[in-house]
Amino acid sequence: MALDLFLPLPELELPKNSGTITVTAPSNIALVKYWGKSQGQIPKNASISFTLSQCLTQTTLSYTPLIRSSAADKPDGNNETTVNFQVFVDGEPKPEFAPKIETFFKRIKEYTPWIGSFIWRIDTENTFPHGSGIASSASGFAALAGALMHLEALWCTSDVDPVKWAQKTSFLARLGSGSAARSIQGPLMYWGQHPDLPASNDLWAQATEQEIAPVFMDYKDTILLVDQGEKEVSSSVGHNLMHDHPFALQRFEQAQQNLSKLLALMAKGDTHGFCQVVETEALSLHAMMMTSNPSYLLMKPNTLAIIEKVRGFRQANNIPVCFTLDAGANVHLLYPSAFTHKVMPWIQKELAPLCQEGQFIEDQVGQGLKKL
Ligand code: PMV
Repeated sequence: MALDLFLPLPELELPKNSGTITVTAPSNIALVKYWGKSQGQIPKNASISFTLSQCLTQTTLSYTPLIRSSAADKPDGNNETTVNFQVFVDGEPKPEFAPKIETFFKRIKEYTPWIGSFIWRIDTENTFPHGSGIASSASGFAALAGALMHLEALWCTSDVDPVKWAQKTSFLARLGSGSAARSIQGPLMYWGQHPDLPASNDLWAQATEQEIAPVFMDYKDTILLVDQGEKEVSSSVGHNLMHDHPFALQRFEQAQQNLSKLLALMAKGDTHGFCQVVETEALSLHAMMMTSNPSYLLMKPNTLAIIEKVRGFRQANNIPVCFTLDAGANVHLLYPSAFTHKVMPWIQKELAPLCQEGQFIEDQVGQGLKKL
């Protein structure tokens, strides 16, 4: 059922000529994890993430108005015709990406029926190394949804409400990949209904309006590339395994509670308390994978070696550096920028040797989608 709030604007005037638009969207790293969903990309628990600024997808959308040959094939958007598009990554055709994008277009078409009126070329590239184990679906679908929504705003003959625009962009991005909903704005985004966040809902993410200590607005995320191979189990398979998981209900409840704890700690500026909750969340996510049926492991020996070193360094130096993990073997190191001069030499000396080819990415919290 369509959500009236996001139905297309009646004041749209579609262009008669071809054109292009380019946007960038960042990846994000969840502090409280989304793992488990109901049909329609509805999360089983609320999540919260830092928006990043260096790990980006840049997408150029080129459109050409479709010439219709018969009245029966009117571009009314309500017919079932699939959207006409081609996808290129780094300038090379990538037909293997088409099925996911086709599913996305099918899901969003009732909210953007005009996509059926054009032939699309999607050109996309990532700033992070291909196959680095960093999920590109969050930044990728945020960029695609953002480009489409910039076009909708451009073609709208009346003023567009920026709050509603951001909500619809996040709503559409969510239909591509759940976590993409949180890449639209920054620096801290929440998604999913939660009693401590009165404006929260399951359909789109928003930037936190809660009181958060300034230290958290200037955080580093150094991504240690432990394993740059393809993920052995996709996140959609992982989400599905939560359906019959023996600990699922406890996990969803734990995430809700961790979100409450984290918001309170972040309001107080408690960086050490933050470390405890964030690390528990990362390990709980992986515990779900290790205890599902079938079970699987995404951590590698060096993931664990890094985790132990992080805990040792924090204890020895009283520096609030902590780790978190995505659905993969890479480790995200989170710490206040003010400690970079102490943390970076240690990363180079102790942690880089545990990374594949000694590689890591220096990122920090950022602001989300940008039109170029
Ligand atoms: O957006 P998806 O369906 O790829 O799920 C991502 C889930 C995690 O990255 C593991 C956690 C999260 O909240 O981002």
